[in-house]
Amino acid sequence: MKRYLQVDDIGDLKQALKDAFEIKQNPYAFKQLGENKTIILVFFNSSLRTRLSTQKAAMNMGMNVMVLDINKDGWKLESEMGVVMDGDKPEHIKEAVPVIGQYCDMIGVRSFATFESKDDDYSEKVINQFIQYSGVPVISLESATRHPLQAFADLITIEEHKQKERPKVVLTWAPHPRALPQAVANSFAEWMKKAEVDFVITHPKGYELANEFAEGASIEYDQRKAFKDADFIYAKNWSSFNNYGKVLSQDKDWTVDEEKMALTNGAKFMHCLPVRRNMIVSDGVIESKNSIVVQQAANRVVSAQTVIKRMLEGL
Ligand code: CP
Repeated sequence: MKRYLQVDDIGDLKQALKDAFEIKQNPYAFKQLGENKTIILVFFNSSLRTRLSTQKAAMNMGMNVMVLDINKDGWKLESEMGVVMDGDKPEHIKEAVPVIGQYCDMIGVRSFATFESKDDDYSEKVINQFIQYSGVPVISLESATRHPLQAFADLITIEEHKQKERPKVVLTWAPHPRALPQAVANSFAEWMKKAEVDFVITHPKGYELANEFAEGASIEYDQRKAFKDADFIYAKNWSSFNNYGKVLSQDKDWTVDEEKMALTNGAKFMHCLPVRRNMIVSDGVIESKNSIVVQQAANRVVSAQTVIKRMLEGL
């Protein structure tokens, strides 16, 4: 595996789950694979789970790990081509990325959507420059349009908690005070459409995801109808795709609360975290016995380790 950006990069999901559960059962069994190998994790944006879980996964594989907060610790990077660099960015990504590639065997990159240009975000300008110029395999730690390590961990968590062969999984938009990228929702949709689940997306009008992600899912604009008989409720906020990056609603009638969870088939509650309580989800729901957000976060180590193992095997 040379890159991990989207669901197609992992191949068959049943095999990916099998590999993940093998790693979860015996996390140190493949330590020799990473001996004398180094991963550098480059963060353009903040992180708690992705940073720690990917470090832990790489350490479980016997690797050396370096972490770079590029905006804090590195030079500010210019990513435009052919510009006169007389502004506040002293280093070009075209030198910085190949240099980083000299110091490691694989790179993880977190680079969120900036909302400055829909075309730049949806063409994955930044992470594609890492793929083009680094000379080593690249793992997305959340790019402008996708969060594939999160979606893989979500699938592992659903597989562990499902009570029936084909559960009903509902992705619900929920309110948030700021404009958030669509990446988590996009990836979750991309993975659920390939998984053995009945998948429904519910959101207010105006919050339609890009066609490539929404197409093939059932879309239900009535949140209560969508929740009926659901086995998993996955809450997430995202900003508008069509009215790019805009917050169109902060309607708290979309907050996931006990009354709405009562419509489900005793559904498990999921969220990628961090989560804003009493905006996205009520205290009662996130603290209920059906909330599996911590188990979900724990599986971030498993998804990252499964991907790193495949990359090490391909070196
Ligand atoms: N879910 C997730 O990616 O968390 P962090 O932003 O804290 O890494």
